[in-house]
Amino acid sequence: MMKMQWLILCSLGAVGAALAAAETSQRRAVNSSPSLAALKPFRFQNYAPGTITPTGWLRDQMQLLADGLGGNLFDFYRFVNESSWLGGAYEYSTLNEASPYWFNGIVPLAWGLNDARLKAQAKQYLDYVLDHQQADGWLGPETTPQTRGLWARALLFFGLTQYAEADPTETERIVNAMHRFVVLANTMLKDNYRGLINNATLGDVYDPYEFGTARAQELPVSLMWLYDNYPRNNSELILDTISLMFAGSRKANLDWTTFFVDGVFPTGAAPNPAPGFMHGVNMAEGMRYPAVLYRLTGNESLVTQTADAVSLITTYQSALSGTIIADEFVGGLDPQRGSELCIAVEVMFSYAYLYRFFGANDYADHAERAAFNALPVALAPDWWSRQYLTQTNQPWIQRLSSDPFYDDNTYSLTYALEPNYPCCTVNHPQGYPKFVASSYVKDGSDGIAHMLLSPTSLTTTVGGKSISITCNTNYPFSEVLEYTIVAKTAFSFSVRVPGWVAGAATAQVTTAASQGRKTVSTVTMTPDAITGLHLFTVAAGITTISVTLPMANDVVMREATSEAGVSAPSVGIYHGPLVYALSLDYEETTHLPLNFSTDNETPLAAFDVVPKCRDHFLLPTSNWSYAVDPSTITFQSLENASDALTNPIWSNNAPPVAITVDGYPIIWPNASGTAAVPPAVNASAVDASDKTKLKLIPFAAAKLHISQFPIYNASATDA
Ligand SMILES: *[C@@H]1O[C@H](CO)[C@@H](O)[C@H](O)[C@H]1NC(C)=O
Ligand SMILES: *[C@@H]1O[C@H](CO)[C@@H](O)[C@H](O)[C@H]1NC(C)=O
Ligand SMILES: *[C@@H]1O[C@H](CO)[C@@H](O)[C@H](O)[C@H]1NC(C)=O
Ligand SMILES: *[C@@H]1O[C@H](CO)[C@@H](O)[C@H](O)[C@H]1NC(C)=O
Ligand SMILES: *[C@@H]1O[C@H](CO)[C@@H](O)[C@H](O)[C@H]1NC(C)=O
Ligand SMILES: *[C@@H]1O[C@H](CO)[C@@H](O)[C@H](O)[C@H]1NC(C)=O
Ligand SMILES: *[C@@H]1O[C@H](CO)[C@@H](O)[C@H](O)[C@H]1NC(C)=O
Ligand SMILES: *[C@@H]1O[C@H](CO)[C@@H](O)[C@H](O)[C@H]1NC(C)=O
Ligand SMILES: *[C@@H]1O[C@H](CO)[C@@H](O)[C@H](O)[C@H]1NC(C)=O
Ligand SMILES: *[C@@H]1O[C@H](CO)[C@@H](O)[C@H](O)[C@H]1NC(C)=O
Repeated sequence: MMKMQWLILCSLGAVGAALAAAETSQRRAVNSSPSLAALKPFRFQNYAPGTITPTGWLRDQMQLLADGLGGNLFDFYRFVNESSWLGGAYEYSTLNEASPYWFNGIVPLAWGLNDARLKAQAKQYLDYVLDHQQADGWLGPETTPQTRGLWARALLFFGLTQYAEADPTETERIVNAMHRFVVLANTMLKDNYRGLINNATLGDVYDPYEFGTARAQELPVSLMWLYDNYPRNNSELILDTISLMFAGSRKANLDWTTFFVDGVFPTGAAPNPAPGFMHGVNMAEGMRYPAVLYRLTGNESLVTQTADAVSLITTYQSALSGTIIADEFVGGLDPQRGSELCIAVEVMFSYAYLYRFFGANDYADHAERAAFNALPVALAPDWWSRQYLTQTNQPWIQRLSSDPFYDDNTYSLTYALEPNYPCCTVNHPQGYPKFVASSYVKDGSDGIAHMLLSPTSLTTTVGGKSISITCNTNYPFSEVLEYTIVAKTAFSFSVRVPGWVAGAATAQVTTAASQGRKTVSTVTMTPDAITGLHLFTVAAGITTISVTLPMANDVVMREATSEAGVSAPSVGIYHGPLVYALSLDYEETTHLPLNFSTDNETPLAAFDVVPKCRDHFLLPTSNWSYAVDPSTITFQSLENASDALTNPIWSNNAPPVAITVDGYPIIWPNASGTAAVPPAVNASAVDASDKTKLKLIPFAAAKLHISQFPIYNASATDA
């Protein structure tokens, strides 16, 4: 296949000319041209930002994001407000990526909430950037080959493609700019991969640590969007540019297909120094590399390799919360090590992309797990500060007395404006808005599927007839999703049944046919073995569907090895998609935001912050060193599942669900300035009369938490 692709690329001149003559409108016949390969299609198609809006608890969280840091960065944060992209002087690195990261998140946030203030911010940025496109087609502030890296353009293009879908009045302008840029990018790449592979000999400074090179598949994602939708007479050049990006990654030894291989992929923590493959954010994005390459080449082994990549990552490098454990470089399954917030939003996007492309149920489960655990735990309840790193066991948040991380500072756990590194300040806003935007997908010409479950509503058309779907639910805090569908035409509606569902999912369907007769039926759902989708055939009129997804307690064993080399079993506890944690009471102190450039040792100049911005230390006031007896786990739903949830929901005591378990105080030592890995429990040293009922709550609500516990088996001891 690969060889064929190259042959196709080499014989395109004549085809390109023919296409030029035929150029009329978008989504043209290019893919049916006999000589020009179509890209492998997505299994499901996405909706434009704004088509799907959050409701319930998810709307509350998106609004907190809009009212918090994410929605205010444009007004005050130097790396956005005074970004070099807007004529300012501030960047946190030579990647010049800060404001493009922000743009990628602000577009779906603005349209997801239909928020005029945020749309105006996005528009101001769009206008500035497009109006300043350089004569040779370059987008961005850089004017020399040594400073012109392609990487930040990949982030800009994510924002631009979403914008073009959200606001059709800007589509042509955006597509024009992208086409002009591709021509230049193609020339650069043909010059020994200029812009992709930083060459110090030539004085290049745009990517000294090969972040852009390791993420070579990112720009192709948007170039493929251009090729699929608005190829104009540039199809050949777009495909060639995509191929050059992949070829460059191979030349730089950053071809992910050589890494997601059993025996090559690391089964534990990264060595120091480590290759770029072992960088957490690179890996969170790189897991899409085989899929994006598959779109281009059609090499079927890349389908299997995508599944292998997901399996290797989740087996060897994952946190209980659904993200990757990596404080710059991967830390295996070590609960002392940190997971960077950027990784949480990148894995959410990657898993959603992979489900939309392949439709493998497992991928969507992983996207939800990160969305309900890893992302929200790292944000303060009011979304005005964020962590850089989150630990699985995190009994205090302050400047640590020693450093358990690979290459991050001792301030990294702090909820702050820019703890350790500013990237997550500008990148975290994409998380929920893109999750919402991809929660429903088009399934063929007359189908709609609910892919990522949460409270949202969708207004669209099928065959020109309007359809609205509202999903009223407290999921993942509840098992019940109530759909109200108002349809002017019959259509196919599918709901994804997660892989963790315990027993049979059921649905009660009520239809009010046009004559006003109501019919009610109860069905046992029969999800497709691959996609997990259960199909409902919905008639025109009003239909309500009440879906119940039974959740069960799920105890996951994890071996933890101490610094002294002693291995002991430990457990993580799930109920449905949520992981549960012992939440510690804490005393909170705040101070002025500290400057990441001084390793967070000195305060930022006052003009660079707003009063809402504070850095927070959280010190525990309750005990955290317990072993648990997993056989005593009991789930409790504390309220009527249909009651409105507390806002903010991701805070101590807010979620309406809990798990109780017998806990026994143990000696749990410190190591590297934090809680040591869960120790082996000396049963004879445990006083059974100290038994206490521990209440565990959803991990993301427990800012100080223990979620991987040592085990004390009371029945073994009694026997
Ligand atoms: C940056 O912030 C200042 C002060 O809030 C504001 O006057 C200015 O318009 C902002 N710049 C941009 C590009 O929004
Ligand atoms: C960097 O540029 C120099 C000078 O043109 C060239 O000799 C060398 O091969 C380039 N290095 C790489 C890795 O491409
Ligand atoms: C097609 O290509 C020709 C020649 O390269 C160019 O002049 C023309 O503007 C292109 N048309 C479009 C719609 O891009
Ligand atoms: C197909 O992809 C696999 C990696 O998944 C690679 O090993 C193989 O060489 C590729 N085949 C071709 C023909 O490129
Ligand atoms: C942050 O610290 C650096 C290094 O000392 C300094 O150059 C910079 O001006 C500081 N930035 C702000 C906004 O205070
Ligand atoms: C913590 O545990 C110690 C020893 O078991 C006990 O004396 C103390 O009261 C506990 N503190 C809290 C806040 O529960
Ligand atoms: C939950 O609340 C709804 C509305 O208030 C009520 O109709 C329903 O009976 C309640 N269910 C339970 C189990 O209490
Ligand atoms: C462990 O570290 C914490 C935070 O620095 C400290 O408060 C506590 O006293 C330490 N515990 C032990 C047993 O050293
Ligand atoms: C286990 O605890 C008992 C009672 O405190 C003690 O005698 C014994 O030495 C401990 N064993 C280990 C291996 O620490
Ligand atoms: C606890 O001990 C009992 C009795 O020895 C045993 O049957 C059970 O499997 C143990 N449970 C765990 C979780 O190890």
